[in-house]
Amino acid sequence: MPGVTAYYGFVEKGDPEPGDTVVVSAAAGAVGSVVGQLARAQSCEVVGIAGAEEKCDWLTDDLGFDAAVNYETENVREAVRDAVGGVDIYFDNVGGPVTDAVWPTLNDFARVVACGQISLYNATELPTGPRKLTDAVQKRLRIEGFIVSDYTRWGHALRRLGGLIRADELRYREHVVEGFENVPDAFLGLFEGVNIGKTLVKVGEEP
Ligand SMILES: NC(=O)c1ccc[n+]([C@@H]2O[C@H](COP(=O)([O-])OP(=O)(O)OC[C@H]3O[C@@H](n4cnc5c(N)ncnc54)[C@H](OP(=O)(O)O)[C@@H]3O)[C@@H](O)[C@H]2O)c1
Repeated sequence: MPGVTAYYGFVEKGDPEPGDTVVVSAAAGAVGSVVGQLARAQSCEVVGIAGAEEKCDWLTDDLGFDAAVNYETENVREAVRDAVGGVDIYFDNVGGPVTDAVWPTLNDFARVVACGQISLYNATELPTGPRKLTDAVQKRLRIEGFIVSDYTRWGHALRRLGGLIRADELRYREHVVEGFENVPDAFLGLFEGVNIGKTLVKVGEEP
């Protein structure tokens, strides 16, 4: 499911062209890591944003991202500007302060793919503050949300993703938690960023 989410979100909502600059948040997660590699496969320049050095190293050293930004230790806006100047496609998995920091780096006619807002899922109140939509007017942004279950042609995406894996142009990692009793901890770990790649819970041996 995360791979198909990445595929349709990036290809159909992002409208990538070779040479576009792409930024993806939660880049070392299940969806984000695939988005960045799809961007590289389409000859885009890609920057990943993640919350740990180990994750940033994985993105650049193993997955071929052009740059990675640690939002815990770096000024995201400056680091993105230093890496690519301006951004043509922002694939947003997190919302909140990370997205606020990316916003000023968007180019005219940039596309924002609203895939997730994990930083806000547990918020008891919506954050207040300066609204960012003036940029949507001035920069003629296209901001579009999507839900993967709207897509019924998963076979097409799975064939394309499978081909990339076989060609070693798409790599993935799994964060496996053992035991059904640890399902709650595995879920909560997503909000703490303990995972690299897809979080799975192993509830028993394969029959
Ligand atoms: N629209 C759809 O159809 C669809 C389908 C699947 C998933 N999604 C959404 O896509 C997003 C990614 O899903 P996923 O399965 O790939 O999850 P994931 O990226 O594997 O795990 C979530 C990651 O989000 C980051 N994160 C958590 N809290 C954060 C915060 N406050 N600020 C910034 N980053 C934070 C953490 O990484 P760091 O260490 O980098 O912080 C964590 O590892 C989620 O928002 C999910 O709800 C949408």
